Amino acid sequence: MTTAAAPPVDLGSLWTLPGVYAPQADTHLLARALQAEGLTADMDVLDICTGSGALALLAARSGARVSAIDISLRAVMTARLNAARAGHRVRILRGDLTGPVAAQHFDVVMSNPPYVPAPHARRSRSHGPQRAWDAGLCGRESLDRICAHAPGLLRPNGVLLLVHSGLCGVEETLDRLTASGLRCAVTSRAFVPFGPVMTERLPWLRAQGLIGPDENTEELVVVRAQRS
Ligand SMILES: C[S@@+](CC[C@H](N)C(=O)[O-])C[C@H]1O[C@@H](n2cnc3c(N)ncnc32)[C@H](O)[C@@H]1O
Repeated sequence: MTTAAAPPVDLGSLWTLPGVYAPQADTHLLARALQAEGLTADMDVLDICTGSGALALLAARSGARVSAIDISLRAVMTARLNAARAGHRVRILRGDLTGPVAAQHFDVVMSNPPYVPAPHARRSRSHGPQRAWDAGLCGRESLDRICAHAPGLLRPNGVLLLVHSGLCGVEETLDRLTASGLRCAVTSRAFVPFGPVMTERLPWLRAQGLIGPDENTEELVVVRAQRS
């Protein structure tokens, strides 16, 4: 298992329109996990919550057929722009999580979804840049939906890669995916300093008991789940 914060992956030159999530430590952790899958040109890959398209474009470099989804129009425009600049054909769709590809199947499905616990229900702040990270009181609003629907998108032997914070329940993710019949494990972890969102939210996170008084790093994990 990877534990240390390894060097960032070369994600190429990416532009992000204002309000679109620029690649961060979670993006890089998932990128390394994706590279470890050894993608080939005959594979179909799906990137849910694509943002800038960073991970979709990394997958496209292998020659794989790549689809990507984001709910934000700005993110979709950004990802399309980045795909055009990189000269990659990526199908970039606007929609809610797996909705636009509900009847399709993939060899690899990946996601870096919103996962930061927030002191308000997500629906009350469903627009703006915070849509990239706010994920309801438990941080699991998108994660639970992905755990419920992504297994049905996998081909036999297909792999789901999910990155999220340790704050929102790694065991919960493993339990849900196991219950869907997938073999799963945490395949990489990294500890990163709190970013601006976590820092601003620290008093509330501490009051919830999600972060101890002396903790000053956040654990990120990649869960790898494989269909038989
Ligand atoms: C943490 S960012 C990840 C961006 C990119 N994949 C990366 O790793 O850098 C999460 C992304 O999820 C998108 N998103 C939030 N809710 C969504 C939903 N219900 N369906 C699809 N995309 C969503 C946001 O617009 C944002 O671009």
